[in-house]
Amino acid sequence: MNRGIWTKTSWKGYRLSQQPVYEDKEQLDTVLKKIEGLPPLVFIGEVEKLRLQVAEAGRGRRFILHGGDCAERFMDCNEESITNKMKILLQMSVILTYGARRPVVRIGRIAGQFAKPRSRDTEIVDGRQIDIYRGDSINDYGPDAEKRRADPERLLQSYFMSVSTLNFIRAMIEGGFTDLHHPYTWNLHSMEKTGEWKKYRATVDGILDAINFMESFGGIRSESVGKIDFYISHEGLLLGYEDALTRKDPASGRYYNLGSHMLWIGERTRALDEGHVEYFRGISNPIGVKIGPSISSDELIELLAVLNPGNEEGRITLIARMGLSKIESTLPSLVDAVIKSGRSVTWSSDPMHGNMIHASGNRKTRDFNDIMGELKCAFRIFSERHVPLGGVHFELTGEDVTECTGGATALSDEDLGKNYQSYCDPRLNYNQSLEMAFLIAELLNKNSIKP
Ligand code: PEP
Ligand code: CO
Repeated sequence: MNRGIWTKTSWKGYRLSQQPVYEDKEQLDTVLKKIEGLPPLVFIGEVEKLRLQVAEAGRGRRFILHGGDCAERFMDCNEESITNKMKILLQMSVILTYGARRPVVRIGRIAGQFAKPRSRDTEIVDGRQIDIYRGDSINDYGPDAEKRRADPERLLQSYFMSVSTLNFIRAMIEGGFTDLHHPYTWNLHSMEKTGEWKKYRATVDGILDAINFMESFGGIRSESVGKIDFYISHEGLLLGYEDALTRKDPASGRYYNLGSHMLWIGERTRALDEGHVEYFRGISNPIGVKIGPSISSDELIELLAVLNPGNEEGRITLIARMGLSKIESTLPSLVDAVIKSGRSVTWSSDPMHGNMIHASGNRKTRDFNDIMGELKCAFRIFSERHVPLGGVHFELTGEDVTECTGGATALSDEDLGKNYQSYCDPRLNYNQSLEMAFLIAELLNKNSIKP
């Protein structure tokens, strides 16, 4: 396919999937113009630093922990919720650093993860057909036709929610929240009864020992003890919003999306002949590409050629989300095709999105064992090929929600109604996330590839 010259709006000449329909186009343009005039959220130097770290993860020298809500909600833009999200991501990253014996790159699905691809455009509520909920930056979750109308003002609101979230995250990091000497608690009670408890306890003791050891050297501060790097990311779904935050670097002439350090293309918007791929090929950020079981090797290699013609390291993270039942029959040939092509990528495993189950009460759930099962397969598939699995991608939260089944507290189908909060996909709760981190630490230890 013949692509013309890229501009930050060249995507407008292509077909687009998963876009809301706005009734008032003028109002939409006015809002996007406003956003275009507002300051960026992140700085080019930070984006470039992340690209180098993603490249290192691709070589097995770092490990990426990418996680957060499926869909952020405006109502959760508050101190408690953000603190809890940071706490779980940080604690997991410390466990992984210990297991992997290499620095962990922390990337939140946060400060902008407000727009969702959906499998249907509408749904039936009380016998009436209404638009589907597409994320807080588009419409309201309330099951009412008027509330579901796509409202451009929500884009501006999501910009300010992102700014406010990121501002608090930066303040926490600058102010010492991420310093492990700070007395925020490791809440491990739920795991005391599991058969694995002794191993988990040993890991935590090992971590505390390591910190004390380093402290005894006075000035020496490891990356996980002192101030940390933390990056934000979201799915680049609403291209009008994304191009309003795309800015040219006067020094290099390159374009960056400065609304986020990293953005990803979803499984449903990665078609080669559509606008999302067109937009993404021109920005210099590190980008994620979600790939599911339907992608062919040829399609994948062509996608990599379009998105990364210069074969730059750290530019592309392939986030595989095959599902436990399909990973064995799909992932190996894709990894082999990438190896054969000589294309540089960093591999990550998303063991959430291919493992959805429909539970009672019309709820979506995922089971801890399926998630863990897919991850184990992923580690084995990469280790057999001597290719590093550079990271993992989770939907998780620091709250005590009941959205995924299983784990140490053995959440069952019947428990899901107790505290199901997600407006979109089910997330691991605090305990399930910590337990997952302990298990990944073990896998990393076992499958470690010497860089
Ligand atoms: C997501 O990450 O929430 C998502 C929609 O993923 P995918 O594009 O892999 O379905
Ligand atoms: Co999701």
